[in-house]
Amino acid sequence: MRVNADIHRAFEIAKIDDRLYAAFIEHMGRAIYSGIYEPGHPEADAHGFRRDVAQMVRDLNIPAIRYPGGNFVSAYNWEDGVGPKEDRPVRLDLAWRSKETNQVGINEFAVWAEEQGIEMMLAVNLGSRGITDARNFMEYVNHPSGTYWSDLRRSHGVENPYGVKMWCLGNEMDGPWQIGHKEAKEYGRLADETAKALRQLTPGAEMVVCGSSNDEMPTYPDWERGVLEECYENVDYISLHKYFGNSSNDTLNFFGKVEETGRYIQSIAGVIDFVKAKKRATNDVHICFDEWNVWYHIREEDHRRWKSWDWPEAPDLLEEDYNFEDALFVACLLNEFIRRSDRVKIACIAQLVNVIAPIRAEPGGPAWRQSIYWPYQLASLYGRGTALRVSVDSPTYDCAVADDVPYLDVAATHDTAGGTVTLFIVNRHLTEVADLRVSLTGFEGATLLDHRVMAGHNLRATNGPGSEAIAPAKGNGVAVEDGTLGGSLAPLSYHVVRLRV
Ligand code: AHR
Repeated sequence: MRVNADIHRAFEIAKIDDRLYAAFIEHMGRAIYSGIYEPGHPEADAHGFRRDVAQMVRDLNIPAIRYPGGNFVSAYNWEDGVGPKEDRPVRLDLAWRSKETNQVGINEFAVWAEEQGIEMMLAVNLGSRGITDARNFMEYVNHPSGTYWSDLRRSHGVENPYGVKMWCLGNEMDGPWQIGHKEAKEYGRLADETAKALRQLTPGAEMVVCGSSNDEMPTYPDWERGVLEECYENVDYISLHKYFGNSSNDTLNFFGKVEETGRYIQSIAGVIDFVKAKKRATNDVHICFDEWNVWYHIREEDHRRWKSWDWPEAPDLLEEDYNFEDALFVACLLNEFIRRSDRVKIACIAQLVNVIAPIRAEPGGPAWRQSIYWPYQLASLYGRGTALRVSVDSPTYDCAVADDVPYLDVAATHDTAGGTVTLFIVNRHLTEVADLRVSLTGFEGATLLDHRVMAGHNLRATNGPGSEAIAPAKGNGVAVEDGTLGGSLAPLSYHVVRLRV
């Protein structure tokens, strides 16, 4: 298969917001308890956080993390998680039919996030609660001193406010499963008033309003229109969520879901533009894709289990084993985020540890990196700077979810400060090598800096404790000559090619 592509120094899509590589972690399953936090584990630090897991997190260079939910947040009382640990109540978590011990709350999580160099993005409960609790929480978190909630924080040993900038106004409020589920207008009004109150406390705080839970919801995309008509001027982002799977065992169709996601982004961008025009608004609202991942291997089985279990504490839940095919899919999805970085400013992999996660950790045992860890890491490390438009002339295929899907999926970034151009390439073809030539206009003196490749694995192969065979290797067979990058890319392979420019 012959593929020609062009990139041009001047053809920029947008400056990539670093938070395109953010993450999400929820109080559910073993994400927090026996995920990042396990006092008594041989790797536990003085706070009870696992050092081995923390190191894997740090290696991802995550800029921001959404916390504490998810469905969990819609019945969460944040006050349960502050103060002396022995006084904290054990509660029933209605979202996941589990017991929440509250041994980790905002102050413990803030310590962990700071140690990993990650900015917190906090969600408030707009399901069972409302404006008062949201503002109390923000006052506890962000106000310096001299008020009830800020002095309570100080009495808990945290003298300085955290200065959290990003706030999510509830979670998936369109979903009938959500505690406190609402109609679009009802939620839009509440989000608007909450955003106004919160901004009085923290001027310049960024507000994320809930979009649909996914693009298959019956109310999508009217939900977004209805919500934004109520709150457009007072919010900065609207959230998108989407989980993916290959239940039909059709690899090309699975990969085609990236195109479907492009349509989803485009539709919401259209709704944003429509409401902006209708309201004669002057501010911009961007997309915060704050839950995305592959989630299907044990989804139905899990659903049956947790719906009937007897309120266990930190049960194993949504512990998907990711295979090589999933890694290729995640690489393509991250490419799509780079290509749509004009509208998508924040995206959060959901989630980070144990629960639908790139990192897994056994209680009392080892931690390991799943296959999807690597494309996420490589994009986070090298997908910074400015996204470049890539014109790709590739053979295409049709599948159930999309037509004309190019076999070669390419995204490119230009880091002007570092003097590098990075190409992220997936050959989605099941059997054919891609014979690629990319002309690099404006980067004539470019030289090859690095080439990493993930290839040659069985699509169903997975990593596990002590076996991390699915990982990037040093690539070969790619060269730059006279302003052209050329190479042969194996079928079903992922490449990160870095150029010094
Ligand atoms: O990430 C798991 C769950 O998926 C989240 O709690 C919820 O927001 C979504 O439905």
